[in-house]
Amino acid sequence: MVTSANQTPEQSANSALGDSSDGTAPIRAIALEQHEVQNSVRQAGINPNFWYAVAWSSQLAAGQVLGVEVWQQKIALYRDRSGAVQALEDACPHRGVELSRGKVMGDHLACRYHGWEFDGAGQCRKIPYLPPSQKLPCAQAQSYRAVDRYGIIWVFPGDQSLADQMPLPEIPEFDDPQWLAVPVTGQFRAHFSVCNENSMDVFHGFLHEELQGWFDPVLLKLKDEGNAIVADYRVSYKGQMAKFLGFTESADQVTTKTVTVQYRYPHFFSRLEGVSSLYLMRLPVGLRESRSFAIFFLRLGLPGWLVQVLRPWAAKLIEQKIFMRFLNQDIEMMESEQRAIDRDPQRRYVEINPAIIAVQRMILRQYQQFLNGKAKPSR
Ligand code: FES
Ligand SMILES: [Fe+2]
Repeated sequence: MVTSANQTPEQSANSALGDSSDGTAPIRAIALEQHEVQNSVRQAGINPNFWYAVAWSSQLAAGQVLGVEVWQQKIALYRDRSGAVQALEDACPHRGVELSRGKVMGDHLACRYHGWEFDGAGQCRKIPYLPPSQKLPCAQAQSYRAVDRYGIIWVFPGDQSLADQMPLPEIPEFDDPQWLAVPVTGQFRAHFSVCNENSMDVFHGFLHEELQGWFDPVLLKLKDEGNAIVADYRVSYKGQMAKFLGFTESADQVTTKTVTVQYRYPHFFSRLEGVSSLYLMRLPVGLRESRSFAIFFLRLGLPGWLVQVLRPWAAKLIEQKIFMRFLNQDIEMMESEQRAIDRDPQRRYVEINPAIIAVQRMILRQYQQFLNGKAKPSR
């Protein structure tokens, strides 16, 4: 059955009875039914009126410059003398040379070509060869609000007057020493919708089978909260990996847990019943390029001080030995999917997970909301 145009996947998802893991109480699962994928989502732009993660804080030391890109907008970041991060459009108002090739001079960013200097607001403050008696020309680079928080540099690429109204995601685990934080960076040659759907798609445990990921997934609940899609899945774990991560008590025992995945536009948060949390910040770069800055938090059941002592090598080990192995398998699938889309953009695909359809609707809705806002006559 295909969902009708005016029926949401959530409305069409009837409850069905599934088996419980131990064969006792039955579990109410959401029915998986056929929905057509909306091809337009693969061309959708972003709603830029949100905070986007663009780099790890450690990538930008004091006095350094870094070029980043948020949905086809190139931005030059620099850290000024006070340690504050400034963000300017990556094009010098003189001749368009990328400002990210320049260097930091005190609180200013100097363009590499003729050395014109710009302050954090993008205003030209100095031209080294301009005689002191002459007035500076009116030259201004677009500036963006930037914040350094949770070890991440965030930029607000949209309407700058809205930046203060839009909160950064809240990551309470970040300041709690009991949690081990594992940062993981992802780079994908795929549209962000393909990546976001992968993050919402708990049914692809098959792909990670030999890494002893999860199995027997069931979609229990799906809610569209307007700015967020929230899905509860039941999944089972078994094996050494699950034991190491604290998901199971012993390697040969099957443990069933509920994992909640939230697509809180434009980022993802997921929680596994007090054992782990994942905050995945999506950075859409261009039509065929996306990135992610994710922090995985693990509760090791050790005293906070010990977690912090172990942190540097434990985080690296978990990132390399566990996360990158999962991520590389996902990247292979996402990039293969993107190549198929590029070969035949009109081809229709079939989806049966209503949570994926809800993610697509959210992406299209947010993009439309942004376009509608732009179309309003300015007063
Ligand atoms: S192009 Fe930047 S100073 Fe000339
Ligand atoms: Fe995966």
